[in-house]
Amino acid sequence: MASYIGSATSRVDGRAKVTGEAKYAGEFNVSGLVHGYVVDSPIPKGRIVRIDTSGALGVAGVIDVLTHSNRPTMADKDDAYKDEVAPEKGSPYRPLYDDRIQFTGQPVALVLAEDWETARVAASLVKIEYQKEPHVTDLQAERARAYAIDVPEKPRGDAEKAFASAAISHAAEYSIPTEHHNPMELFASTAIWENGQLTVYDKTQGVQNVQQYLCKVFKLQPNAVRVMSPYMGGGFGAGLRPQYQVVLAVLGANALKRPVRVVLTRAQMYALGYRPASIERLALGASSDGLLESMQHEAIAVTSQFEEFARNDTGWGNLLYKSPNAKFGHKLVKLDLPTSSDMRAPGAATGVYALECAMDELAIALKTDPVQLRLQCYSDRHQGEDLPYTSKQLRECYRQGAEAFGWDKRNAEPRSMRDGSELVGWGMASGVWEALQVPATVRIVLTANGHAEVATAASDIGTGTYTIMAQVAADMLGLPIDNISVKLGDSTLPQCPVEGGSWIASSVCNAIANTARAVRGDLLELAKATKDSPLAGAGVDDVALIDGKIVSKQDAGRAVPIASAMQSGKAERITREEINQPSEDKSHARNVHSAIFAEVKVDEEIGIIRVMRVVKAVAAGRILNPKTAHSQVMGGVVWGIGMALHEETLYDHRFGRVMNANIAEYHVPVNADIHDIKVIFVDEPDEMVNPLGIKGLGEIGIVGVAAAIANAVYHATGKRVRDLPITLDKVI
Ligand code: MOS
Repeated sequence: MASYIGSATSRVDGRAKVTGEAKYAGEFNVSGLVHGYVVDSPIPKGRIVRIDTSGALGVAGVIDVLTHSNRPTMADKDDAYKDEVAPEKGSPYRPLYDDRIQFTGQPVALVLAEDWETARVAASLVKIEYQKEPHVTDLQAERARAYAIDVPEKPRGDAEKAFASAAISHAAEYSIPTEHHNPMELFASTAIWENGQLTVYDKTQGVQNVQQYLCKVFKLQPNAVRVMSPYMGGGFGAGLRPQYQVVLAVLGANALKRPVRVVLTRAQMYALGYRPASIERLALGASSDGLLESMQHEAIAVTSQFEEFARNDTGWGNLLYKSPNAKFGHKLVKLDLPTSSDMRAPGAATGVYALECAMDELAIALKTDPVQLRLQCYSDRHQGEDLPYTSKQLRECYRQGAEAFGWDKRNAEPRSMRDGSELVGWGMASGVWEALQVPATVRIVLTANGHAEVATAASDIGTGTYTIMAQVAADMLGLPIDNISVKLGDSTLPQCPVEGGSWIASSVCNAIANTARAVRGDLLELAKATKDSPLAGAGVDDVALIDGKIVSKQDAGRAVPIASAMQSGKAERITREEINQPSEDKSHARNVHSAIFAEVKVDEEIGIIRVMRVVKAVAAGRILNPKTAHSQVMGGVVWGIGMALHEETLYDHRFGRVMNANIAEYHVPVNADIHDIKVIFVDEPDEMVNPLGIKGLGEIGIVGVAAAIANAVYHATGKRVRDLPITLDKVI
């Protein structure tokens, strides 16, 4: 039987998704369902003085209007969702908690009606009087208020002195605007009370996270609450934390004793989390022969007034380049906005953008090829921790990426390459992310008919988790993949943290291996109990499960069919559940790497930029499924193109509100913007990172892409745009 691991397997849930059989949080229908529509605040800061719901309540079909003054009880805000709900920390915004307004778009009332349209119309009739307070929403205007927070990267040497005395240096400021996740699926929750049990269908990347949160907010017993999220139409980090609509749906269900669904509008999703706008200051100093002597990176990013959210923007240079002197800093500015949040490759997408543009500018100052500079400064050790890597095939990424792209044909001179009326530019960058693991538990139920159910509480946020789990289980159990069914997205399943950080593939697949080993042990015991067993004396690791048989690794002729072992032992089913704990070995750094090469064409007259080609070479350990992996990375590259050229949440700071809260005016790349994307997976065997050698691919796809494009735009035009997005007005 062929190995499923490493084969380009089509999604096992593909059919369910294209036929509509796969249900999403806003699609679970029950009789008596009530529809909730959110009324949100038009002002960014102040207090609610008065709410008049009489107009809304007068509409036929409206059942109730909930506000902070008549809602059912919730726990005190400080009582819920502390650090123990790992790994997402903080206190998510609690709707209808009190009369305070903390950001535009904050929910202030929930209209409950027999149908959604009625609720929506009635919501427009809720009259609210506010007492406004002065607000601030502009990072650039408020940057003087920035305060420093701790960063894990320790300084070394004297970076300032080394910078001042460097033969060649480059210092500049780069900025990235606020960006929103814009997953295709709207945030939605359906809450159903039945016989003292609360079932919630929620759009979330972590069902157990939401389950624990709801238990705390509503003081419910864990076994009384079940949260389900079998499918998700995109997460990207927006669904890591419980979002406020799930609290509203449960509030509604508690108030009415009826099932309630709350679906946010696209515009309302702009009042959830976002990639924080950031200002990144880079200062690099090098010797005249192009070795880094000083590396400084400081970031200033946005958080809310009521919560502190920050990810490491700085410090990524420690994973890429040698520099004897280095200094890193991170500051936050509190603004009257919702709390910023994780968004694909949080910290790295922004920080590495700035770092890799700065490296390009340094290469130009040194008159060195940008790939050459990176090879000269290449570090085989994590510079901050002074540790070797479990594996790091980044040199191979540069080599294979450059070769596939044809980098050696590049004329280094800006504006030297053209195609008719268009300037042609070639740029490159590096990408880096972490190879993380979290504790995860997998249950396998093997039945005597040769079928296995593999289950954990993880959510498949669209990345292909169902598929890779089926592949790994099929190989480990020696069964055809069609005999494997995977269950995910249910809080009653075995423990698994949120799907994020690129850690689910490694965590869950290694847990499958552990559980499959336990199943194999049970099968071996049954096989050994048979008369004249050919496996007598064998231990669990002396045998493998192959083609429906328990087979001796020494002698393939010594084998017992799984079915007969189970029949003779009268075992209808074997149920096993094992956890996989992340390695505690701190002797090595664990990272994924990539090299990106991009070609842009820029219309010289009107400045239109098109990304014609991107090559992304990725070293991420073992690739479980080249097909879903390719899609995952390609999606990241597309998003990197959006980050470079299109995406920007625009605020009118006078009113403290988003002006383009829709996907017509918040620009993302469309088909016509996307041309040739080539993804290369560089071979990277790694037995140290975890037993299966999996590093994860969720974030690495986007990291560095915007820098490669920005560098290509400079090469095409001779104009350096440091503030994203690079729109045509900035290049002409
Ligand atoms: Mo991702 S930002 O860890 O969902």
